[in-house]
Amino acid sequence: MPLQIVRDDITKMRVDAIVNAANNSLLGGGGVDGAIHRAAGPQLLAECRTLGGCETGQAKATKGYNLPARYVIHTVGPIWHGGNHGEPGLLAACYRNSLQIARELGCESVAFPMISTGVYGYPKDLALPIATQAILEFLMENEMQVYLVVFGAGTLAVSMKLFSDVRQYIDQHYVDTHTDRPREYQREALWRTDEKKALEYDIALSESISYEHMAPMADSAPMPMAAPDWKKMLEETDEGFSGMLLRKIDEKGMTDAQCYKKANVDRKLFNKIKNTPGYRPGKPTVFAFAVALELNLKETKEMLEKAGFSLTHSSKIDIVLEYFIKNGLYDLMEINEVLFQFDLPLLGSVA
Ligand code: APR
Repeated sequence: MPLQIVRDDITKMRVDAIVNAANNSLLGGGGVDGAIHRAAGPQLLAECRTLGGCETGQAKATKGYNLPARYVIHTVGPIWHGGNHGEPGLLAACYRNSLQIARELGCESVAFPMISTGVYGYPKDLALPIATQAILEFLMENEMQVYLVVFGAGTLAVSMKLFSDVRQYIDQHYVDTHTDRPREYQREALWRTDEKKALEYDIALSESISYEHMAPMADSAPMPMAAPDWKKMLEETDEGFSGMLLRKIDEKGMTDAQCYKKANVDRKLFNKIKNTPGYRPGKPTVFAFAVALELNLKETKEMLEKAGFSLTHSSKIDIVLEYFIKNGLYDLMEINEVLFQFDLPLLGSVA
């Protein structure tokens, strides 16, 4: 998932670079700036002293010292003065310039705090789309794992209207008894733990290899009665998941890259799906492609079936996606922000 929203303490993240929301002096401060300096140790400040400060919207890199991260990219966000003093452009520049530096340093992973949304007072609901748009624009042209870090009990600023509409839709439709077929329930239970095991499980079942050695089910789901011969079914089906995906990409006039980037799926996973006719990804990945291709509900159900799933009201992520697709809302980041608020798996490839 090239852009992931996570709840974490940025000073503890094992990524190539973390971004610091600094001030123009680069000589430390409170908030995340203070936390990073404390965790990195005094050498960080010593190196910062040599940088001669930093303009708002610009970024400069130092080593990470005692941090798990190799580098710290210090950027200075705009102070919020109501939004008519160039704040949006400067905030976007912070993300863009930090990502450029991360690329120049050869970083494969970078973590951002929500720049300017603390001491500098930038409203979260205005800062979030600026951050995600700047990051997604970069990811359209570059391969990198980017984390947007929500700190502590902080929340993402999902619009309250959208949040309550989705909450209402879940309350109206969620059934907490598992009504889907036992077999598929197990597969779904498995992918919650590990997609690879889910695929092994399918193949083990279809080759009726004993699966005692398989990981215990994530939930105590009943074992299937007669295991269908998945491999034979997949060979016989006129079109598997990957066949339908590639057909839909063509029908929509998209390139492969446009599709998987819009789906927040990394190139490696896309190539695996494309080159393995029987490969069936986890449900969040199927949903991500349905959103990227802007499929309607019927097409989404068809694509889920091809991957061995169905849209079920016994799964909240399904209901949230049904809400967005029914309403023709295909902004994957907006969907992920809502899923994040509900502590549900985000859409995109499982990293
Ligand atoms: N990990 C991740 N995020 C964090 C952490 C942490 N350990 N600590 C704070 N944050 C989050 C805050 O919750 C906020 O969402 O970082 C975001 C940015 O808040 P600030 O750190 O206050 O930064 P900013 O609003 O850009 O103000 C910068 O504050 O710390 C001083 O020296 C800094 O003068 C500068 C100003």
